[in-house]
Amino acid sequence: MMEVNLLDLYPKTKRNPDERAETINDEDKRIAKQFGKEFFDGSRNTGYGGYRYDGRWVPVVERFAQHYGLTAGSSVLDVGCAKGFMLHDFQKAVPGITVEGIDISQYAIDNAMEGVKPFLHVGNAKDLSSYGDKSFTLVVSITTVHNLRLADCKMALREIQRVGKHAFITVDAWRNPEEEARMKKWNITAETFMHVDDWKRLFDEVGYTGDYYWFIP
Ligand SMILES: C[S@@+](CC[C@H](N)C(=O)[O-])C[C@H]1O[C@@H](n2cnc3c(N)ncnc32)[C@H](O)[C@@H]1O
Repeated sequence: MMEVNLLDLYPKTKRNPDERAETINDEDKRIAKQFGKEFFDGSRNTGYGGYRYDGRWVPVVERFAQHYGLTAGSSVLDVGCAKGFMLHDFQKAVPGITVEGIDISQYAIDNAMEGVKPFLHVGNAKDLSSYGDKSFTLVVSITTVHNLRLADCKMALREIQRVGKHAFITVDAWRNPEEEARMKKWNITAETFMHVDDWKRLFDEVGYTGDYYWFIP
């Protein structure tokens, strides 16, 4: 298990949590948590404000490929794959690699990139029972498992651990009171988010031995 920032080549976004906290209300959060069109392609108050492919995952997947030694014979599962952007870039970066994605959002899967659509399924991170033990070389889950309530989040971590030979996840977290305050203003969908030390204790409790890093707005 290693804390490693494999997303260091992901473009940095300038965020303004104070402004967001002023404009977002409980109804926006309720809508965002449905992970439908409004979350991906609606207003900024209910999610991304437009979730479109722009190639930002290309350097990240190259980093993954190098770090985990991925080759044509490898396989990757993306838990919370949304429209499959990252898996599309895996296909390009590692020709011949097997990709698979699951996401709770029917909207995201319906609007996924055509090349990867056949490999994406609607599903819940807490139940990966259609996949066998250690059936993927790598399981990736970016800013997804914190959207589950604690009991389900634990199930998701156990499932990721079970189906992957390697795993890498990022979760909403903070390291100090300032970051905690920013997170609480910024977050609209997370149900389980906490101090990095609490996450590490949770990883121990559920037996998650994969790699991890933090999303800190
Ligand atoms: C912040 S988005 C991240 C999407 C993508 N991983 C990325 O980094 O661009 C969170 C994703 O988690 C998905 N999601 C939320 N709850 C989920 C669950 N219980 N099981 C699977 N996916 C879930 C959402 O539909 C959404 O696509």
